[in-house]
Amino acid sequence: MKFHPINEHAQSFPKPGLSVLPLVNFKFLGIPAKNKFFSPFSNNGSLYADGRSALAHALQLAGHSGQNAILFPAYHCGSMIEPAIWLATDIYFYNLNKDLSPDLNHIKQLISQAKKPVKTLVVVHYFGFFQRLDSLAQVCKENGITLIEDCAHAYYRLDNKTSSPKGDLAIASPRKFFPIPDGGLLCINNPALQKENTLEAHSFKAEIKALYNCLQTATLFPKPNILGKIITKIDRLRTQSPAKKSGHLPSPQDFLWFNPAQINKRGSYISKGIIHFSSHQQIIERRRKNYQYLFDNLKNQSNAHPLYELTGETVPYMFPLVINYPAQHFITLKKLGVPIWRWEELAESGCENSQYYRTHLLHLPCHQSLSFYELDWIISRLVNTLSKR
Ligand SMILES: Cc1ncc(COP(=O)(O)O)c(C=O)c1O
Repeated sequence: MKFHPINEHAQSFPKPGLSVLPLVNFKFLGIPAKNKFFSPFSNNGSLYADGRSALAHALQLAGHSGQNAILFPAYHCGSMIEPAIWLATDIYFYNLNKDLSPDLNHIKQLISQAKKPVKTLVVVHYFGFFQRLDSLAQVCKENGITLIEDCAHAYYRLDNKTSSPKGDLAIASPRKFFPIPDGGLLCINNPALQKENTLEAHSFKAEIKALYNCLQTATLFPKPNILGKIITKIDRLRTQSPAKKSGHLPSPQDFLWFNPAQINKRGSYISKGIIHFSSHQQIIERRRKNYQYLFDNLKNQSNAHPLYELTGETVPYMFPLVINYPAQHFITLKKLGVPIWRWEELAESGCENSQYYRTHLLHLPCHQSLSFYELDWIISRLVNTLSKR
């Protein structure tokens, strides 16, 4: 398996003009009793350090080792795959259709051809849009395969009728939805996989650092305020200190996105508190409005199109925009400071759609901290750039 390299110009891109992830804002905090939960993860006890650690636990619960294999979607980020590499499991990538839904025939083919028994299949609800899982769950059941729903992009689900998870296990990455520095969740739906698990608590110092990280992001965007400037100064001093310079240098064996030493660490109380005291209703409404605003303003571009229309059950993580000419437009947009993520590192595979989306699919923020004014800033840069050829 080989990951693609990251864009060679990445080092020279300026800091984005707006944050890709949500920022601390009192407007989106609320009284817990008033919060009506719309998330299958809202009653989950343990907060892991991050989504990838929760996924590593899920793979361990499923019984992964060098003796078996796992099926991942061909469109993925590195942080999803490295926990499986760590467990020395054989990895196969299944093809996706143009709308990123799983290609069931390819999955069946992989199950029958894999050299080792397939233990688990991971399905991703990209950008918060839910995959229809009935047939896939049936295939998994028939073949004794554990189904893991990767809800890193789909913390919420508004449709009560279909909201019960079909997967044996599900993971979430709440820091994509809340202004928190850490956090990962694991939902065990199959009682046969239930296992007691004690996580290591954060030290007091780590809690203070978590609080500091929250403040840091909150004060830097869109422009650093006084607190932001002080924090940036402190950061500069910290990175210049000799202790930092003589710190650990990554060795080639190190993972790029996954840290096995983190997996038994608990997420911070700061993160837990912010999730608990968030106004879920307001976050949901704002994200949906922002998504729709981006959709309305970008749907008629000649050189780009949104991947999905908003559906009633969806609380979007990001806005997926397919651009026709990434070689001409991507670097310009990044240099203009437009906040964009792209899964460039994705592993090589035979899935044409995923390889196409590696460069053509932009992830644009639509989180609750963005105002329409800020979205207009993003939209105008996109429209201007994409109209030139
Ligand atoms: C689909 C998906 N799964 C899992 C993860 C890992 O989540 P975390 O960043 O919380 O470790 C990510 C992170 O971007 C993701 O996009």
